[in-house]
Amino acid sequence: MKLGAAFCSSAILLFILHATICAWGYDPSPLQDFCVAIDDPNHYNSAVFVNGKFCKDPKLVKAEDFLFQGLNIPGNTNNKQGSNVTLINVDRIPGLNTLGISLARLDYAPYGLNPPHMHPRGTEILVVVEGSLLVGFVTSNPDNKLFTKVLYKGDVFVFPIGLIHFQFNVGHGPALAFAGLSSQNPGTITIANAVFGSKPPISLDVLTKAFQVDEKVIEALQMQFA
Ligand SMILES: *[C@@H]1O[C@H](CO)[C@@H](O)[C@H](O)[C@H]1NC(C)=O
Repeated sequence: MKLGAAFCSSAILLFILHATICAWGYDPSPLQDFCVAIDDPNHYNSAVFVNGKFCKDPKLVKAEDFLFQGLNIPGNTNNKQGSNVTLINVDRIPGLNTLGISLARLDYAPYGLNPPHMHPRGTEILVVVEGSLLVGFVTSNPDNKLFTKVLYKGDVFVFPIGLIHFQFNVGHGPALAFAGLSSQNPGTITIANAVFGSKPPISLDVLTKAFQVDEKVIEALQMQFA
């Protein structure tokens, strides 16, 4: 009896330990203070690919490698969706390499939309600085439950990694938000663009069957996102 219980609790402990060890953010943990990104030194003839980017010689690293200036400048929202995301990832700040974090500025025209999209490698935490946003995310199958909220200045909302989410400016004026993302390169998949605007296009047979509509509807959507 005692032995059974002891075995059982150590099995639970092992399980918890295993879960903890596996529970890092999506980007792997750094093994050094920093690994400021540089282009592959053998760019033109190398067949070496690494997960992330090559490290600059630490002796040559400068404060500027960790700096980005100009996030006070709004993105241009004069486009179909009326929104603009300025993402400061490892491509904009080489010092972010291996650190598992990035930052975005999100500008919305009145009634502007950041359309349904997901980040394959990062959770997002967003704060509204100006205006009001209707936001939401949808859980995975089979529930596909929508978690939604109207956010006002100072409100913070989380979009879990990999889940489809959106923000819609429901105010009469422009809106502004900033977001942190838990990857140096969270990536973005905009659902409509990926499904209806892939290059080359996904077969009509696939899309008509998937969406249970006729070809004309799919073709109209493909025209929008081509
Ligand atoms: C976002 O704003 C930047 C800076 O004004 C601009 O270069 C870019 O084209 C805009 N993107 C979209 C999708 O409108």
